[in-house]
Amino acid sequence: MQTDAGTWNGSSSLPRRVASDLRNSSLRGAVIGLGMIGRHHARLLQSSERVTFAGAVDPGGDRYRAVHDRALVLESVEELLARGRLDFAVVAVPTDLHLPVVEQLAAAGISMLIEKPLAASSEQALRIVEVCDAANVQGAVGHVERFNPALQELRRRLLAGQVGRLFTTSTVRSGPFPARIQDVGVVKDLATHDIDLVSWLSDSAIATVAAQTQHLSGREHEDLVLALGALRSGAAFNIVVDWVSPTKVRRTRVLGERGLLEADTLTGDLYFYENGEVGVVWSAAQQFRGVSEGDVTRYALPREEPLRIEHDCFLDLLQGHPSAEVVTLEQGVQIVEAAEAVLESARSGRTLTLAPSAARS
Ligand SMILES: NC(=O)c1ccc[n+]([C@@H]2O[C@H](COP(=O)([O-])OP(=O)(O)OC[C@H]3O[C@@H](n4cnc5c(N)ncnc54)[C@H](O)[C@@H]3O)[C@@H](O)[C@H]2O)c1
Repeated sequence: MQTDAGTWNGSSSLPRRVASDLRNSSLRGAVIGLGMIGRHHARLLQSSERVTFAGAVDPGGDRYRAVHDRALVLESVEELLARGRLDFAVVAVPTDLHLPVVEQLAAAGISMLIEKPLAASSEQALRIVEVCDAANVQGAVGHVERFNPALQELRRRLLAGQVGRLFTTSTVRSGPFPARIQDVGVVKDLATHDIDLVSWLSDSAIATVAAQTQHLSGREHEDLVLALGALRSGAAFNIVVDWVSPTKVRRTRVLGERGLLEADTLTGDLYFYENGEVGVVWSAAQQFRGVSEGDVTRYALPREEPLRIEHDCFLDLLQGHPSAEVVTLEQGVQIVEAAEAVLESARSGRTLTLAPSAARS
């Protein structure tokens, strides 16, 4: 299949330095924000053999009791920095606070794994890239779906040509209302996963998008989005994302000329529905040469925790491994820009063409 080679290739455009003293040593890492996702980052850092846990910062304390040593729960980044060497931090504060926290850490020379979306606006996201470049620190974005083994295997098979020419990529991400998210709507909070996936899976950037949103909960931001469009490769995509459903669905399907690959990232399953040959016995139907269902395969895959794989890739980046597959800051900017195009399309009722990102190298 046709690809925009290099556009979504994790480590191809990483100019930032690797400190030689980090290559073989245990890295000292911390978490900023001990909320819903920060608690999982804290759990993983405390159990990693590659990391010495330096502490966690949250002015609200450790609500989820994620940190074993109470003395390592701190109130401010200043307090953390005063405790000695720090190699990196995971930034897991609400999205509209990413930029000020990044500015503070970059000024101290700390590399960062920043939760997704990179920022609440493309201006803030671009500023994060500038700040990290100026401070010469490493940065990556926590689009954790890329580290789900089912999606990694789906991508590998798609790029190897298993479904032939790609027709369309479709995602559904729905579930109950997460009351804690107040700063952004469902497009920037959840659909940024899907905006990333439809491009990354087939290695082709989004070219056009048309979207509709709905405001259903009475809050300022949207609760549901339907978006469709074309990738540069010519393949189509559509995404359905909401947080007003009573049941949780996380499904990604790629349909091509030879069949359909489907990943369920709740269960970690990957299926292949192969096109079959139709034995036509009904004469009127002989006019049609459609496909029918052939063999169905469920692949046996490792059930590794995606967030742990994401951490390992980020640590690889810090330690200078040439094949470290992270989501770059530049890609994080592109995803926020595409999310803004989705919102603008929904506002204006127009189909938008996405310009190449200013951040694209
Ligand atoms: N990768 C994923 O799948 C995923 C999942 C959930 C959330 N996220 C992202 O992670 C970020 C946090 O989301 P969440 O759901 O954990 O939110 P949350 O509200 O549950 O947690 C945020 C925490 O940050 C703390 N905080 C606020 N200001 C702070 C500061 N200046 N310094 C330190 N701590 C501060 C709050 O007290 C709170 O405990 C968001 O950007 C969100 O989009 C990503």
